[in-house]
Amino acid sequence: MFIKTDYLVIGSGIAGLSFALKAAESGKVMLITKSNEDESNTKYAQGGIAAVWHSADSFEKHIADTLNAGAGLCNEKIVRQVVSEGTKRVEELIDLGTQFDRNANGQYDLAKEGGHSEHRILHHKDVTGLEIERALLKKIHSHGNITVLDHYFAIDIITQHHLGKRVTSSTPDITCYGAYVLNTKNGHVDTVLSKITVMATGGIGQVYSTTTNPVIATGDGIAMVYRAKGKVKDMEFVQFHPTSLYNPGERPSFLITEAMRGFGAILKTADNREFMHKYDARGSLAPRDIVSRAIDHEMKTRGDDFVYLDCRHLDRKGLIDHFPNIYTKCMGLGIDPFLNMIPIVPAQHYLCGGIAVDEFAQSSILNLYAVGECACTGLHGANRLASNSLLEAVVYAHRAFENARLKLPEISLQGGIPEWNAEGTEHAEEMVLITQSRKEVQQIMSNYVGIVRSSLRLKRAFDRLEILYKENEALYEKTTITQALSELRNLICIGYLIIKQAMERKESVGLHYLIEFKKKETV
Ligand code: FAD
Ligand code: SIN
Repeated sequence: MFIKTDYLVIGSGIAGLSFALKAAESGKVMLITKSNEDESNTKYAQGGIAAVWHSADSFEKHIADTLNAGAGLCNEKIVRQVVSEGTKRVEELIDLGTQFDRNANGQYDLAKEGGHSEHRILHHKDVTGLEIERALLKKIHSHGNITVLDHYFAIDIITQHHLGKRVTSSTPDITCYGAYVLNTKNGHVDTVLSKITVMATGGIGQVYSTTTNPVIATGDGIAMVYRAKGKVKDMEFVQFHPTSLYNPGERPSFLITEAMRGFGAILKTADNREFMHKYDARGSLAPRDIVSRAIDHEMKTRGDDFVYLDCRHLDRKGLIDHFPNIYTKCMGLGIDPFLNMIPIVPAQHYLCGGIAVDEFAQSSILNLYAVGECACTGLHGANRLASNSLLEAVVYAHRAFENARLKLPEISLQGGIPEWNAEGTEHAEEMVLITQSRKEVQQIMSNYVGIVRSSLRLKRAFDRLEILYKENEALYEKTTITQALSELRNLICIGYLIIKQAMERKESVGLHYLIEFKKKETV
């Protein structure tokens, strides 16, 4: 079946929904999403969204904190744009119904997280993302120009390649004409023809065994763009959140928000000793790359499987009011935060790199934009500052919309696009080939491409992944397309990109730490 639209938006997190709402004022929007419409990394965001909000704070301070966390690799022009436009975009979220918490004086209750010099995080309890999704989806449902198709999985974008033309990474005018999308309820592949396509597919957490990201985070958008010969960058900068709850067998890992450390919680080893000041003067509130490496170092030297977050000294009512979700979770596991320290361990959390875009979210492929976590704007550099991700998503959704609406009248739908070719393929005989390979990818990445890396480990990961790549390509050629098969292909591609770009960077910077190039904070 052919579907025609002005805008095709792939993904229903904060980035895709924000773009869709704006774009719907200038054309028909088709928004597809591979799971339930609210399922996304956004839904699980806890801490909140960073923005300059009160007079003691300033754009310059937020800019300095972002640059500092980014370890010298942020694009300063982009940092300035995002921070200075951010407050307006957060006001828009509020205008459309998002409820951020206020204090007794009626002022927004601003939290503080690692690397921030001021309190500037707007939040809704410890379930900020859920509240943002709720507000955005409510508006989306009432907009006549937006069609949401859930359980639709984007397989590949359509370019000249599908018209039989040769496309390489140096082809100057690779153009996106839409995407092939799988209706996972009936197994049909539809051809969506669009004038403008927006990739908003989120993160890559499922490439690791331990991650805070839900199962949808398989890096599909980045892999699609890479296969279409678009530019992908900074993939070596994978962020591990320092404090996920240590609860073996739970997947994804449950996050203990950094805002708890902003509220006074302290990282300790099993012998009740604070250790972060050995590594950084900011202690438990140092930027994430430093805290995660410090925890990794403590666990390895002590032979422990986890360290602790100590909340026992904190105000009971305040903690329960601010973090009801975390409190309930801990109590459910028999951990009373006022009596017991909470066991925590770092887990993969965020990808700073992704689809290379310019300041208007345009990718290197014509008529294809990328927004949110799947995009690499230059804001985060080598390490993202806490709560800057939701901010980047709304700022770039707006920038993409401003640019795309001007281009829309000049673009026509492409003719001659063939339907999906399933010739010569058969249904998979053994699902185990796919599920087992997915686990192997996760093990390779977690064992060899984690918080601390070495050239030897990267080489080993590369060689192991190559075997999986060859096996899976052979399987892909002859097997009827499914979401599981396509996701596996994407995970292998993402693993390959992380390893390859990590091998190319011969230094330790931000989240990319090579033991051959030691940094000073590790004792
Ligand atoms: P997502 O919200 O992940 O949405 C991606 C969408 O794309 C999903 O709907 C998915 O189903 C869909 N999709 C993916 N592939 C396909 C495909 N092939 N076909 C169709 N649909 C597809 N950041 C902050 O700034 N502050 C926080 O407090 C914060 N807390 C976090 C807590 C947790 C537990 C996690 C996991 C992340 C947190 N982050 C936080 C990071 C932040 O939530 C994400 O970076 C951000 O929400 C990403 O938004 P997005 O719209 O780009 O992607
Ligand atoms: C958290 O709440 O600690 C996560 C914030 C983020 O990822 O920005």
